[in-house]
Amino acid sequence: MNMKTTIILTAFRPSSVKISRMERNIYVPPQGPPQGPGPSREIYPLMGEENIFKMLSDFYQELGKSSIRAMFPENLEEASRKSAKFFVQVLGGPPLYVIDHGPPRMRARHIPFEIDEAARQVWLSCFMKVLENADKKYNFPLQHMTGFKDFLEGFSAWMVNKS
Ligand code: HEM
Repeated sequence: MNMKTTIILTAFRPSSVKISRMERNIYVPPQGPPQGPGPSREIYPLMGEENIFKMLSDFYQELGKSSIRAMFPENLEEASRKSAKFFVQVLGGPPLYVIDHGPPRMRARHIPFEIDEAARQVWLSCFMKVLENADKKYNFPLQHMTGFKDFLEGFSAWMVNKS
């Protein structure tokens, strides 16, 4: 379903980008928000904060080399730390993201970026690359890898906002 919803993008714009008023049609994935259980909350206690930050730093390095690099801020390291706080929280750690940035509302926060299926595939492939040997690199518990990848699949599908 490609809902022809016109949304006026005044909220959630990055402060570095000056958009006073912009309109476009927003694609709404027909399956709706992800319904799965989410990744295991045992992951954080096993990996620890430092490893999660390192994993996200490496992920943003990959994004930096990818065809969707232009979507991301110049300072990838800083951007990676913001994402890492969200992942700490999702993987069972303290609510670092909420404390610093408020309610996640991830789909809404991604609306200012035009994310189509092709962009999603690039994003996912960058993450898949980082997850290779993640047990050795970040002490990622392999017994939870499938659940984590399922989460990334489902959640990323919900971030798509352009047909
Ligand atoms: C579908 C592919 C996706 C694309 C193309 C994408 C792209 C982006 C872009 C351009 C930003 C803003 C720049 C930044 O601060 O890094 C961003 C922010 C972020 N993304 Fe994504 N994203 C995708 C999926 C996801 C998924 C699946 C998650 C989580 C599971 C996620 C988590 C985040 C977080 C936590 C932020 C920081 C939000 C904030 O500004 O506070 N993204 N993403």
